Amino acid sequence: MKSLTLVDVVENSTSKTDLSDLSINSVVKEASYFKRIKRIAAGLLSAVVLTWVVFAGPAYATVKGRCDNCHTMHYSQGGGQLAGWGTEGPYNTLLLNNCMGCHTTPTSGDAYDGTTPFVTGTGLNDNACLAGGVFPAIMGTGDNDDNHHGMGNKNAPAGYNGDFYTGVADGLSCAGTNGCHGNETDTDNMKAIKGGHHDTSLAFRMLYVDGDSVEGDGAADYEEAMIKDPTTTVVTSGVDQNVNIYCAGAPSVVTKATISELCAKCHGVFHGAGTGLASPWVRHPTENIISSDWEIGSGTYVLDGDDYKNNPVGFDAAVIDNAEKRVTCLSCHRAHGTDNDDILKWAYSTQQANTTNEFGCLGCHDTQRGPDTPQ
Ligand code: HEC
Ligand code: HEC
Ligand code: HEC
Ligand code: HEC
Ligand code: HEC
Repeated sequence: MKSLTLVDVVENSTSKTDLSDLSINSVVKEASYFKRIKRIAAGLLSAVVLTWVVFAGPAYATVKGRCDNCHTMHYSQGGGQLAGWGTEGPYNTLLLNNCMGCHTTPTSGDAYDGTTPFVTGTGLNDNACLAGGVFPAIMGTGDNDDNHHGMGNKNAPAGYNGDFYTGVADGLSCAGTNGCHGNETDTDNMKAIKGGHHDTSLAFRMLYVDGDSVEGDGAADYEEAMIKDPTTTVVTSGVDQNVNIYCAGAPSVVTKATISELCAKCHGVFHGAGTGLASPWVRHPTENIISSDWEIGSGTYVLDGDDYKNNPVGFDAAVIDNAEKRVTCLSCHRAHGTDNDDILKWAYSTQQANTTNEFGCLGCHDTQRGPDTPQ
């Protein structure tokens, strides 16, 4: 096998494609185009790249395509930068762009193009987004009083218990000590998520709590289809899995970390003190089990698309168990941003007692539903 040298990467990248008008988005399209070509003609570069990928890591390696779609060895090509690269480089991990540079949709309204999951960009909204939701193009003041996590803001998180977070000095960011993804020990975004893009089996969506990975079983399309049309048939395993299955549970039964513990890294007071796992409640419970007397809690009730979109529940070890459904922060909130106040999945104002709604608060609290449901 020919080993891949720096020169090969640079030479091959310029000879195989005209990179001059390559935006990150064409990068992504080019990546799948190249994958098709690769199957037909096993050229030297493709053979080398393929071998590299196969030997580089475990079977879970998930980003696909040529290295030069995403990496640049010197942040320089022909003595300058190419049009599709971010303008603020050089970037860590020899990347062509930063997190938002790659994760901004090039196509209005398209949250997932089959390769890259997008968390911001034009045309995205509560019905055209991924499970994490959408950051607005212009961040708000980040005062805990709008509808998204305001990147760069220096306000303390509501319910902050004083642990770990350094964003009050440096501003909220995507990952590391200032953000949500990756470990909480590295200040640098890329260092904090190191390896995550090439091996997404390390942790659910590259999320960690105190060194433990968050457990979860992610939708292959990040829930794009289900959010667009909740009547889509729910698929809970395999390559067509189209819903996220979250982990929730008492610390005694969860071996890794739950999604609510992730939120609690910065909003610890809401999750810990005063919530507990038993009534009387002074803050809305998370992690605790939903009574089997409630429709959604019943062992025979299987969540439908509306439930997954509007009030999903969690399970011990992120394995569906209809007899043990639990509340999580994501039963009501998305992580990035939504069209609604407080990053809620639905407008709180749509939730009114004695109405026939079956989503949101009323998705779980069926006793509070209107007269069409037996009280
Ligand atoms: C679709 C984009 C993409 C492609 C294609 C890609 N990478 Fe990466 N790579 C990333 C991103 C993003 C990171 C930084 C974040 C991380 O580590 O997850 C990264 C990190 C890395 C790292 C440091 C993390 C680690 O695992 O040690 C190495 C090394 C690396 N890439 C090598 C390569 C090589 C070699 C290729 C081609 C065979 C390649 N990458 C192709 C996006 C890509
Ligand atoms: C790395 C720290 C951090 C983590 C982890 C975190 N948050 Fe936040 N959150 C913040 C900060 C900082 C603010 C206040 C600034 C703002 O509003 O952007 C905030 C604000 C909020 C708000 C109020 C937003 C508004 O404008 O009304 C909600 C709701 C929220 N977070 C929910 C969550 C949920 C749910 C999770 C878990 C998925 C989570 N947070 C995880 C840092 C964090
Ligand atoms: C060079 C482009 C690029 C950059 C830079 C980049 N990403 Fe990604 N990211 C991707 C692609 C492509 C995928 C899809 C990988 C896959 O198929 O699982 C992805 C996937 C993800 C996922 C989902 C992983 C999963 O579990 O499926 C997360 C979370 C993520 N990126 C976070 C980040 C963060 C945080 C940063 C910055 C610290 C970042 N990305 C920087 C291209 C990029
Ligand atoms: C049962 C639904 C529900 C669950 C579960 C839930 N929240 Fe909320 N959250 C709300 C609603 C509704 C609001 C709006 C303000 C209010 O009514 O208290 C809110 C507001 C917030 C705010 C903004 C508070 C402020 O001062 O403006 C934060 C931060 C927040 N939630 C974080 C979390 C975290 C973290 C979790 C998990 C530990 C969580 N929420 C679980 C429904 C929920
Ligand atoms: C994912 C399911 C779920 C959703 C969605 C949900 N709840 Fe709850 N809620 C619960 C569970 C479970 C309890 C705990 C009940 C118990 O066992 O005591 C609870 C408890 C409560 C309580 C306290 C009841 C008591 O006995 O003290 C109130 C009030 C409440 N919820 C209101 C709301 C409101 C308002 C919303 C919407 C903003 C909401 N809930 C959304 C599951 C949910």
